[in-house]
Amino acid sequence: MKATAMAEGIYRLGINLESDQLFEGMWPMTDGISINSYVVQGDKTAIIDLTEDVDDKPLQFERELASIPVQPEDVDYLIINHMEPDHTSWLPAFHRKNPDLQFFITAKGAAVLKAFCGIEKNVHIVKTGDTLDLGKGRELVFYEAPNLHWPETMFSYEKSSGILFSCDAFGSYGSITDVIFDDQLSSEQHGFFMEEALRYYANIIGGFSMFVTKAIELVKDLDIKMVAPSHGIVWRENPKAIIEAYSRFAGYMNGLAEPEITVIWSSMYGNTGQVVNSMVQGVRGEGVPVHIYRVPHDHVGFILASAWKSSGIILGMPTYEYRMFPPMAWTLDMFGRKKVWNKKVLRFGSFGWSGGAQREMDTLTEKLKWEFIDPVEWQGRPDDEVLARASQQAAALARQIKGQ
Ligand code: FEO
Repeated sequence: MKATAMAEGIYRLGINLESDQLFEGMWPMTDGISINSYVVQGDKTAIIDLTEDVDDKPLQFERELASIPVQPEDVDYLIINHMEPDHTSWLPAFHRKNPDLQFFITAKGAAVLKAFCGIEKNVHIVKTGDTLDLGKGRELVFYEAPNLHWPETMFSYEKSSGILFSCDAFGSYGSITDVIFDDQLSSEQHGFFMEEALRYYANIIGGFSMFVTKAIELVKDLDIKMVAPSHGIVWRENPKAIIEAYSRFAGYMNGLAEPEITVIWSSMYGNTGQVVNSMVQGVRGEGVPVHIYRVPHDHVGFILASAWKSSGIILGMPTYEYRMFPPMAWTLDMFGRKKVWNKKVLRFGSFGWSGGAQREMDTLTEKLKWEFIDPVEWQGRPDDEVLARASQQAAALARQIKGQ
């Protein structure tokens, strides 16, 4: 692939991690993920964010750079919006090719740059409002945007083109091939990247939603003509689309989620599983969309995205040794880490000789600001009364969701 021109003197280049890899070592990717970098050339040449040192990706990156044409030793400045290794693990090798490289990074980032790469020389600390004039009318302005999603993160904005280089913020899963802009996508592809933006958000950014809101406020008065994140497509035709989507995703954490219900169920011998259909029918009877996942069969990365978006959650789990079925406990632990907050929740499940799942669930979720309706719990096999009550309670939850 070649670098793609975005504006005069500004190019996008990057690599894709494949779908058989796990992002951050844990998140599945149905169509991989791109790691984008950007070159801004005036009289001086800057690269905004680098790439990951994996397989032959640095070689691909160098080939794309050469297509501009730029060689590593031609680069004057490296702008580090974010130090996470998907953008920087190749940095030490790049630095060896260009030992005169000058770095622009936040104060917190400088400490991480030293820790990961041993680099302390030619490091320029920047803060919000600082600028870097590259000549020929190209000028970068820096904005500290902490916790998107590490404490050191920042945005860079190029004034002449109106391009906001936002690193992880406004990013998505999904590989980039020959098309990089939103206006080049079919409606199906556009929908795919929006869906993958949500899943990426729930997996990577969601726990930092309050900082998303702050960062959007920080740049709201900028004339943003393009949003160029470090993962996913460049939003050129409608940059507001992804900013508004991220604003919506952030709001989901505060109870402003979609009127939908995610059912997450688990079962050991089928006694809890037999009730899933009654739950689903109860929700559907009220006309509320329902999404169904089973643990441990479905990956928590997908479950998180659905739960993040949904106002309501129905959790099915048997009691296991006086506590929750362990795969469900693990899922809820992840919900706590990722701040799946402010949901309306219904639990159902079977127990053998004693209950106990509810007690552990109350403890695990006490910081999540969840509002529960009465659970449906029974000993052994579910009878008709249990099935009827399941359907009634699911319908009651659905009515609450519709009425909010
Ligand atoms: Fe794309 Fe937080 O790294």
